[in-house]
Amino acid sequence: MASDLMDKLVSLCKRRGYIFQSSEIYGGTGSVWDYGPLGVELKRNLKDAWWRRMVRMRDDVEGLDAAILMHPRTWEASGHVDGFTDPLVDCFECGRRFRADLPEILTGQCPVCGARDSFSEARQFNLMFKTFMGPVEEDANVVYLRPETAQGIFVNFQNVVTAARQRVPFGIAQIGKAFRNEITPGNFIFRTREFEQAEMQFFVRPGDDDEWFEHWKAERMDFHRSLGLDASKLRFHPHGEDELAHYAKSAFDIEYEFPFGWKEFEGIHNRTDFDLSRHEEYSGKRMEYIDPTTNDRYIPYVIETSMGVDRTLLVVLADAYREEQVEGEERVVLGISPKLAPVKAAVFPLVKKDGMPEIAERLNAALRDAAIPSFLDAAGSIGRRYRRQDEAGTPFCITVDGQTTEDDTVTIRDRDTLEQVRVSADSLVGWIRDRVA
Ligand code: GAP
Repeated sequence: MASDLMDKLVSLCKRRGYIFQSSEIYGGTGSVWDYGPLGVELKRNLKDAWWRRMVRMRDDVEGLDAAILMHPRTWEASGHVDGFTDPLVDCFECGRRFRADLPEILTGQCPVCGARDSFSEARQFNLMFKTFMGPVEEDANVVYLRPETAQGIFVNFQNVVTAARQRVPFGIAQIGKAFRNEITPGNFIFRTREFEQAEMQFFVRPGDDDEWFEHWKAERMDFHRSLGLDASKLRFHPHGEDELAHYAKSAFDIEYEFPFGWKEFEGIHNRTDFDLSRHEEYSGKRMEYIDPTTNDRYIPYVIETSMGVDRTLLVVLADAYREEQVEGEERVVLGISPKLAPVKAAVFPLVKKDGMPEIAERLNAALRDAAIPSFLDAAGSIGRRYRRQDEAGTPFCITVDGQTTEDDTVTIRDRDTLEQVRVSADSLVGWIRDRVA
């Protein structure tokens, strides 16, 4: 049932232009996905919601956009060169590689060819993608595609303190691509090799870290609820000693109940002074903060909030997908919150005559002029047009009918309640704006 639901979601995403397999015409690239016309809008809306709440609405968080390629010493200092590994085994029969800790592997049977006890010893496999900088491909020129955005923030800590004149406690936030050569990717966009993170590192005085950790846990859960997600499918998962990353003193995941089970889509970590101390050690540059009022000197502790953008987008899609009966007919609906929906309104002329197409075009243009993404659809029966928009997640459908030509009013149909209201064409833009902003 779970795979059935995921299959339906994957196929809807392709059909409606949310997500396509990367390089599909060549047979696809493993676990890399492209966002289509609706997908890119949804992703942008999600990132905008995060940026607004984490940066624009706060005076204690600054934004940053650091480069993907960083000095290779960064990754030695951060511990990723030595420690960012998964244990891996080879099957002697079919030659496939697997994570050694997969439940299937622990039973001793190869999940691909079925061979028993034919695995190599486990080896550590580094998940960072390597490439070369400059024209010579030699070890001295190796650089990595960043596996997390966080390090771009740590190495810029002093720059931001000076330029933005921020005082601890304060944070630095950024959204950007990260890359991991995952051995067992899968579940659509859940675990991919190229993905985006929306991360914020909040620098605090050591000793204040536990209090700030609790603050950010609550704040981040509140953010996800504000996206209109089903609260009963959200929960915290505390990390046990064996789950903690090498840099973390304590950590909580925010999990969602996907069709394939409860899984993490955001991590809240107390990274202590690990990263800044290591960068001080490896770069030789001071990373301490001097409190301007007390003159105290210390390396701040860091509370990190790390949201996977693609994974959260999968949460939004999975949470929104539903199939239901309406007047004896089955309909598929993406009930995405109007704030996040890629297209906010669709305008339908009831028939292609009596001036209705012209009025519909005028209303569609008025919505677009107000920066409200809308779509004009004059093809097929009204019922079919509704179904298409329901599947695409469009919250409001506006119909121009015979009465419109007489009194300049239109009907607006709500995707979720199916209620219809009649409003004057003049008030349409304001009516929609009030519900999608
Ligand atoms: N800076 C901390 C950090 O990177 P993480 O728990 O490894 O922590 C944070 O990653 C978030 O990034 C995860 O909760 C997940 O949403 C996302 N993420 C990590 N690996 C991913 C992958 N291979 N594909 C998609 N999203 C991923």
